[in-house]
Amino acid sequence: MIRIAAVGDVHMDTDVVGRYRPALERLPEQADVLLLAGDLTRHGNEAEARCVAQEFGNLEVPVVAVLGNHDYHCDQAPQVTKVLEDAGITVLEGTSTVLTCGERRLGIAGAKGFGGGFAGKCASAFGEPEMKAFIRTTTEVADRLAVALQELECDVRVALTHYAPVPDTLAGEPPEIYPFLGSYLLGQAIDSAPTALAVHGHAHAGTERGTTPGGVRVRNVAHPVIKQAYNVYHLGDGS
Ligand SMILES: [Fe+2]
Ligand SMILES: [Fe+2]
Repeated sequence: MIRIAAVGDVHMDTDVVGRYRPALERLPEQADVLLLAGDLTRHGNEAEARCVAQEFGNLEVPVVAVLGNHDYHCDQAPQVTKVLEDAGITVLEGTSTVLTCGERRLGIAGAKGFGGGFAGKCASAFGEPEMKAFIRTTTEVADRLAVALQELECDVRVALTHYAPVPDTLAGEPPEIYPFLGSYLLGQAIDSAPTALAVHGHAHAGTERGTTPGGVRVRNVAHPVIKQAYNVYHLGDGS
C-alpha cells in the first residue's frame, strides 16, 4: 500500500505560516509522500516562497510540487522554484521523479498544465495568433506530461497538475470559467499511460472526486475543497 498525501492552493504568505505545520508533523505516520498541487503562494514572489519553504520544507517525508498560476504572477517562477528546492521540495514541470515506498517504486509526473476547456466546449487553435498561442501552450504542456508519464520506470504512476484534467472536479464552479480551469488535453495525457491517480488543484469551488474518460481516479485537493491540511489516498496492489 502506497499512501499519498496531497493538498493544493495553500496560497502561503506570512499570515498563513503555521496553519499547516502542526498537521504536517504527523505526516510520517500517515503518508509516504506529500504532493503540493500548485498555487503555493499568493503572488509568486520570493518572500512568499520562503513562507512555503518554512511550512512545507524539511519534512520527514518527500515533498513533490508543481507550481500554479499564482506562482507565476510576479514573473519569478525560477526564483520561487529555487527557494522551494533549497528547502528539499522537488518541483516538477513536464518532468518526473521516482520514490521508493517499501518494495514498490512510485513514479510522479508533474506539470502546471493550462486551460482550454473540455470536450464539446473547448477553445481551438484557430483565428488570432493570441488564440493559437493559448491553445499551443496547453498542447505543449499536455504533451510534456504525457511523455513524462509514459517514460516513467516504476510500479505505480501518479500525475500531478495544478489545472484540472476533467470537468467532474469543477462541479460547483461557474460553467463560464471552465475553459480557464483546465483542459481535456491533460486528461488525454493522463490516459496515455497506466496512471493510478491524478491530483490537481486550482478549482477552489470545485469538487474532490472525478474520473478521466480512461477510468483514472482524479482528485481535486485544493485546500478550500478538502478543508484540511491534506488528504491521504491509498494505492494498493491493483493500482
Ligand atoms: Fe488557487
Ligand atoms: Fe490556480
